[in-house]
Amino acid sequence: MTQLAHARITAIGSYVPERILTNDDLEKMVDTNDEWIVQRTGIKQRHIAAEDEFTSHLCIQAVEQLQNRYHVALNDVDLIVVATTTPDYSFPTVSCRIQQHFGMEQAGAIDLNATCAGFTYGLHLANGLIAAGLHRKILVVAGETMSKITDYSDRNTCILFGDGAGAVLVERDLEASWFEAFTLGTNGEGGIHVYRSGLAEQMDGTPLIGNGKIVQNGREVFKWAVRTVSSGIEQLLQQAVLSLEDIDWFVPHSANLRMIESICEKSGMPLAKTLQSVQDMGNTSSASIPLALEAAVREGRLKLGDRVMLYGFGGGLTHAGLILRWGISKEI
Ligand code: COA
Repeated sequence: MTQLAHARITAIGSYVPERILTNDDLEKMVDTNDEWIVQRTGIKQRHIAAEDEFTSHLCIQAVEQLQNRYHVALNDVDLIVVATTTPDYSFPTVSCRIQQHFGMEQAGAIDLNATCAGFTYGLHLANGLIAAGLHRKILVVAGETMSKITDYSDRNTCILFGDGAGAVLVERDLEASWFEAFTLGTNGEGGIHVYRSGLAEQMDGTPLIGNGKIVQNGREVFKWAVRTVSSGIEQLLQQAVLSLEDIDWFVPHSANLRMIESICEKSGMPLAKTLQSVQDMGNTSSASIPLALEAAVREGRLKLGDRVMLYGFGGGLTHAGLILRWGISKEI
């Protein structure tokens, strides 16, 4: 990749709500059981926001951790990009609420909705804007309160989702190149939906299904994800002129552990190289990748210079993958 300036991740933070919803708890709510859930998804528990806790609260906590942990100045951040599919309001956006909370007076603010691929789309934008010389310091945040759009009487979906947020700081670096390859793609057929009350019927006569909560064809989404991500891995390696052996860590969206296993099997990626957050946090949509990265940093597994492949995919259907060198030099 030829670039004018380079972008580098220099700090990371995350947050999950205190309340935990276990498989045993779900057994009391719908006709399911721990064995079925673990066997089909690998999920053991998820964190669920309190009634008065919303996506912006989670995102602010993640940014606060990033700030306190790395002692970084936020007053010269020039853009805040928030990936979310569960904003507090249509507007003000979550990025505006973060800007206000931290008083980032020089920052532009934009939310993007690329569902579970939102974080990788956010990095794609941040890298491009920094490389083009338009920005120097971008906060990329991914946060979700999936529990607010989950129907807890539908056993097909309520076992899957959880809440959380992650944040990274992406800064201009004139010395070294950190981002090495990107791929994006879309299959706009859907497969997983949240219809807005009233609008779907008005638009094309589609009856309102799900009453504003998630509905999906789980089997089709599963198959699409395995097929798409496996070929995306190949494209990324070709673009960067690398092989699977060159990748230190693979961080796919944490939708389902079985899905990650199938992607690894089909692509040849060793399962031992994967970082995931799905077992303890469920599917946290756009937040799942930064949550997995933050845990790996905290556990001392992910180190400066490691070559990491991230792959986000989800509703839309849309997907975005990238290869980067891990850029955080400060220990925590
Ligand atoms: N507990 C027990 N049984 C359940 C259940 C639950 N929570 N949910 C569904 N079932 C039942 C179904 O009713 C069905 O019963 P039937 O055979 O009597 O009709 C049976 O289990 C099989 O259902 P199916 O939907 O075919 O299961 P599956 O093996 O495809 O697993 C998912 C379901 C949702 C776990 C799986 O399809 C999946 O993870 N898909 C991807 C979804 C996803 O990740 N979406 C987000 C993308 S970002």
